[in-house]
Amino acid sequence: MTTTTLPEHPLLQDHADARPVAAEADAAADRNSVVQLDPDHPGFRDEEYRARRNRIARIAREYEPGAPVPDAPYTPEEHGVWRAVWEALEPAHERHACAEYLSCVRRLELPRERIPQMREVNERVEALSGFRLEPVAGLVEPRVFLESLANGVFLCTQYIRHHSTPLYTPEPDVVHEIAGHAVTLASERLAELNRLVGRAVKRTTSHEALDRLSRVYWFTVEFGVVREDGEAKAYGTGLLSAGELGAMRDVELRPLDLEAASRQEYDPTHFQPVLFCADSFEAMYHALRDYLIRR
Ligand SMILES: [Fe+2]
Repeated sequence: MTTTTLPEHPLLQDHADARPVAAEADAAADRNSVVQLDPDHPGFRDEEYRARRNRIARIAREYEPGAPVPDAPYTPEEHGVWRAVWEALEPAHERHACAEYLSCVRRLELPRERIPQMREVNERVEALSGFRLEPVAGLVEPRVFLESLANGVFLCTQYIRHHSTPLYTPEPDVVHEIAGHAVTLASERLAELNRLVGRAVKRTTSHEALDRLSRVYWFTVEFGVVREDGEAKAYGTGLLSAGELGAMRDVELRPLDLEAASRQEYDPTHFQPVLFCADSFEAMYHALRDYLIRR
């Protein structure tokens, strides 16, 4: 067990894995069953923002899986939020992101000056790994989210955080989905691991097994860390899309142990005090792949 410094951010409230496991895993669970803002949401009192969120939610509701994703109506202010986040993220990535992620960022060539539409991100990611993003209005059940990965589909929110808090969001948004997940899904190896998670989840027949895989997903795909040249580097999307990736704090780094990760509880509403760190990206890839194939 090692203690080192790693970035933190409230974005730790992530999607699939932050959600409570459904009482009944219903294969027909609605992808778009939740669209609501809490009273303490930064955009709660902004009628325009809420109206735009509703328009964007409608895109997801009316979306036919497999079809091109309609463009979301972002405002100049929202494109400004995207610019502000990238200005904060890029220097932090240089210091704290693993090589695989940095290579994917270069390959994807995402625009920094405007929010890319899901349609154009899909053109690039699909060509690299076969994965595609499909829109959802908000949180979906863990089983629905995770099983879709088996088919190379990442269920993805389209709205962006409120402009008053460019470096904070209480929920996953297009910054997390694209700067985090879409970029990592441009990696063949990370895309493969995402698919294997989905296949493993499809084979589960109990809540316990689903919970264990959700935790493994959380501590790897969302908050995974690997060692490179003696330093802890992030490959987890929750870390990589955090606006304050550069704000360092002490976390406890434990050697990657997927059985232990599958039993490790976490609180998605707080900074993660414990992360699992593999000796290298290769070591993580093989350990996670072997674990998922055996489930
Ligand atoms: Fe996520």
